Amino acid sequence: MRSVVVVGASSGIGLSVAQQLSARGDRLVLVARDEQRLHAVAESLPGPTVVAAADVTDADAVERAVAAGVAAYGRVDGAVTTAQAMAYGSVEDLPAEVLHHLVDVAVGGTANLARSILPRFREAGGGHLVVVSSLLAEIAVPSMGGYCAAKWGQLGLVRVLQTEVRRERGLHVSLVLPGAVDTPIYRQAGTYAGRLGSAPPPVVTPERVAAACVHRLDRPRRIDHVGPANLLAVAGFRGLPAVYDRLVGPMVDRVVLRGPESADDSGNVFEADPSDEGLRGGWTTGGRLRDRRTGRARWRG
Ligand SMILES: NC(=O)c1ccc[n+]([C@@H]2O[C@H](COP(=O)([O-])OP(=O)(O)OC[C@H]3O[C@@H](n4cnc5c(N)ncnc54)[C@H](OP(=O)(O)O)[C@@H]3O)[C@@H](O)[C@H]2O)c1
Repeated sequence: MRSVVVVGASSGIGLSVAQQLSARGDRLVLVARDEQRLHAVAESLPGPTVVAAADVTDADAVERAVAAGVAAYGRVDGAVTTAQAMAYGSVEDLPAEVLHHLVDVAVGGTANLARSILPRFREAGGGHLVVVSSLLAEIAVPSMGGYCAAKWGQLGLVRVLQTEVRRERGLHVSLVLPGAVDTPIYRQAGTYAGRLGSAPPPVVTPERVAAACVHRLDRPRRIDHVGPANLLAVAGFRGLPAVYDRLVGPMVDRVVLRGPESADDSGNVFEADPSDEGLRGGWTTGGRLRDRRTGRARWRG
């Protein structure tokens, strides 16, 4: 039985991680920005939980959340972080403060968690940290520059962390890189591209990515891609950059920026929007959005 800090436990992949860990008997510290939503999640889980609302960019709040786990369970020997928001828009159109915040959440937030949790892992005699990054940590996608910069930075930071702890017995850091996942993140995202974004196919379930995170908590690995098209996309980006660059713009217009028209909006970048949080976003494997009332799946809208 592990004591695990789950950051991003209120929605999507993090919520599914919390459900899977709790079902197998692990003791959890649930972290995200919205405290009320975390209490609702805690009530739905079968096992012991501590709620510790924190924004990962606030180092003191992250430290308090980790300390709450140690106080409740005597030790903390696992952590999974999924915290992130997204925003669409070209690098020129994205407001500077939005771009900076996305990067701060991914890079600063992950560093804050590492700073607080690694000493606790050492006290516990070992521990495993799993960081959920993205396929977009290894490829470039136009209109997603803030998110790509955040995820490339996070990947660099975590790869460095991995080299820094590699000689310490029982201490491991893993990266999970999903492709598109059926979660609320797409409609929670900010947009400065004139439209809301959509999940590009192939879309996998949050349960599948969460199962990979739970597996990596037990069996660490440097990098674990989850998504049927991930390796093909990375191979194209690295091996055929001229072809990739020509195709990726029109592809983003067709498969990503196909949501409803929207005025500029920062979405949930600076503040949580718990009204739209949940396990899934309603996306089919083929990238269609299922209407909540009728159940009909549509490509546009
Ligand atoms: N869905 C995809 O297609 C996809 C694809 C590749 C990678 N990913 C990655 O997977 C991870 C999880 O995404 P998801 O799809 O599960 O998104 P999600 O459903 O929107 O969940 C994001 C979680 O992060 C929390 N969060 C956001 N900003 C935070 C902050 N500053 N401090 C603390 N918590 C914060 C949110 O809660 P609050 O808002 O209450 O704080 C929520 O619990 C992210 O790192 C994302 O980049 C997702």
